[in-house]
This record gives sequence, C-alpha cells and structure tokens, in this order.
Amino acid sequence: MKTLIKNAQVVLPTGIEAVSVLVENEHIAAIDAAIHAEADVTVDATGLHLLPGVIDDQVHFREPGLSHKEDLQHATRACAKGGVTTFLEMPNTVPPATTQVLLNEKRALAAEKSLVNYGFYIGATPTNIDELRNATDTPGIKIFIGSSTGDLLVDEQDALERIFAETTLPITAHCEDETTVRANAQRFAGTTDIADHSRIRDRQAAVLATRRAIDLAHRHKHRFHVLHVSTGDECELLGDHRNLITAEACLHHLLLNVGDYQRLGTLAQMNPSLKTADDNARLWRALDEGTIQVVATDHAPHTLAEKSKDYPDSPSGMPNVENSLALMLNEVNQGRCRLEQVVHWMCDAPARVWDIVDKGRIAVGYDADLVLVDLGRECEVRNEQQQTKCGWSAWHGTKLTGWPVRTWVRGHEVFREGQFDLSRPGQAAQFDHARGGYWA
Ligand code: DOR
Repeated sequence: MKTLIKNAQVVLPTGIEAVSVLVENEHIAAIDAAIHAEADVTVDATGLHLLPGVIDDQVHFREPGLSHKEDLQHATRACAKGGVTTFLEMPNTVPPATTQVLLNEKRALAAEKSLVNYGFYIGATPTNIDELRNATDTPGIKIFIGSSTGDLLVDEQDALERIFAETTLPITAHCEDETTVRANAQRFAGTTDIADHSRIRDRQAAVLATRRAIDLAHRHKHRFHVLHVSTGDECELLGDHRNLITAEACLHHLLLNVGDYQRLGTLAQMNPSLKTADDNARLWRALDEGTIQVVATDHAPHTLAEKSKDYPDSPSGMPNVENSLALMLNEVNQGRCRLEQVVHWMCDAPARVWDIVDKGRIAVGYDADLVLVDLGRECEVRNEQQQTKCGWSAWHGTKLTGWPVRTWVRGHEVFREGQFDLSRPGQAAQFDHARGGYWA
C-alpha cells in the first residue's frame, strides 16, 4: 500500500519545507520535492502542514477497572482526532500495573482495542523492586512520590533509594511532597472552596518533592523525567542536565492558573494543582530555553457527576488528548511559539526521552505516524463533540484556530475530517533503552 502526500508544508527535523512524502506500508519511504512514484492513494494537501504524530507521554486511560470514566475505544478515538498517534499510559488503573503479568494484560487489551500506538509504564510500590528490575517492553517506571488518584505511593526514603539504585529502566515521577500536602490538608480541614486545592497542594509541596527526586537521580546517576512541572521554582532546579534529567509541562499548567477556579470550579482540579500566571510564564520560558523538553496532557478523565461533587470529594483530573495539539496550534497562531517548537515538544522530544524507536520525526525509514493540520481552521471546542467517554472538556466554548484534519498510524489512515477507520488497531511502541538518554 502506497500513499503519496503532496503539496503540504512538511515539518522536517531541519525545518519546514514544501516536499512530498511517500508512505509505503507502515513506513516513510521517500521525502522529496518531486516524487513521481505510482501510489494507491494520493493526498493533495495544498494549504496544510504535515507533522509527525504526537506522542503523549502521560495519559490515564482507565482500563482495566475504571472504564466508567474512560476506555481504550473512546480514548484512542480521541487520540486519532487530536493527532496523537502514540500514548504512554500511567499505572494507576485497577488493579495498578505493578507486575509484568499486569502490564502484559494491559498490552493485550490495547492490541485488541487501541486505534493508535501504545506503551504502558510499570508502577512502583515500596515492595515490587524485583518486578521493576525485570520489567520489559515498557517505557519506564512510574513513582507516585506523593499520592494522587489511586493508592500508588512510595514516600519512604529507603524504598526510593532502592528503586533508584537497583533498577535500570528510566524513572518518572509525580512530585508532590506527601507530608506537606497532608499537613496543609489538616490546616484547611472542612473547606469546600476549590481554590484551597492550590493551597493544600501548594508550591512548596511541588518544589520539595521535585528537589528530592532530582537529588536521587543525581546520586544514583539514574535517568529521570519530572512529570507535570507546575511551578517556575521547579524550573530553576532542572538546570542543564538533559542526558540525566528531563521534564514535562502539561497544557493545563501552561494555559490555566488559579484565576480559572472561579470560571471552571472543580473541572480545573488537577494534581499537581494549578499555580499562578507567573508560573505559566516561567513554564513557557523553560520550554523556550530547553530546561523543559516535553509537552503532554496528563489526560485524566472523570465523569461530570464525579467532578460535580463538592470539593474535596471531587476527583482531580481533566481529559485533553483530543484538544492538546489544537491548543498548541492556537498558541502558534497567537505568536506565543513556533510550529517547529510544538513539533519538538510534542513529537520529537518525547520519542528521545523515552527511547522510542523510529518515531517522532518525519524522516525516511521512520514509522508513518503522521498528522495533517489546517493552521487556519477555526473551530469551537464543544462537550457534545468530545470522543472521550467522560464527554467534557475544560475548554468547552473556546474557539481555537489550528486543527488536525487527518491522522495516519503506521501508514493507516485512522481519522479524516470527523470520520474514523476503526478496522486496524495500533501497535506496541518499541523502546531501545540501550540508546541511553535524551539528546537535543
Ligand atoms: O490530577 C491528576 N489526576 N493527577 C494525577 O497525577 C492523576 C490523575 C488521575 O489519574 O486522575
């Protein structure tokens, strides 16, 4: 099967060029100004930009165990619509993915149901060090250094030291200091004010835990990726240690802040919590400077009924895989960043951080995970159009300019202008950890 995509502005590792891209079966076969090969399908992409598919390195798709909130069919349709061609999923499902057997069960579910490519982290507990040591076919180890949705938590120093000392897979962590959060929760006991969420899960909690994790990574020389950095202060800690320590910012921490609680209520309740407008600006600066490399969603769906409970009974998390690329393209249109930067943060950098083989770039021989976007298209985010099972978005009613219009996963077109082709599942991403580190 050959697909020829002509007349697009193509975002290549070297810049944006008007070239044609020939896809042969699952791979990119040729990139050239003029390709005269016969193709089964020719796509005239005049006026559109061709990007590598987005790799979202932090999602919660809720299978198994919590499929009333989300499931792989809904979540991966949302991915296809949003231009996300690979996801890496977190272990706080039910049961939590803390063993190879449970990881294999998740992979089997995805092999059957996922429209896009997938990988699953193994979750750390204080006692599953042997599983962490021997796990295979996983991007890495997820530690909740600070509890969130679910009961995964590793807070004891001894257990953390062992995990960093005795395992070899890359480690990633949710960093909010549990002692600080618990003490703050006592101070605000009885509150029903959602704004107190940012006082309970405060700046100090984020900074303390991130500092602790960075210290562990340095002392044990262990590859480490800080998830959802929420404060400017943590950016100062990251420094320039990219071969050892990388970091991620999420859309909600870049685009929302404590000023949004009044408008959004518990829909804006996330862990780590939203911080200030100054933190938004410092996170953007850290992306610009390269101290944060990855933009992801932390797609964390809960039903509207669950989110409508009074704080603090309301759960933390919001969905976002289907709007994340559009939100960033909208920022390109507003002049906040360049399209090449978006491709670096959402496609290339996550592939390098997680040692994902042959993804994240438009290059000959790479997997044909591709998304065509229309930078000029204006469209409003509407709850009733969301593919995620939870059926809502914090951006409901917001008009964004710049949208994905067609998505291919390993050469197979899964989404085209509102229509899905559900006939072929995605595949497991391959990880080659022997490559050993992020390079810019
Ligand atoms: O707000 C969040 N929700 N943060 C997390 O780390 C977990 C997530 C969830 O799974 O609901």
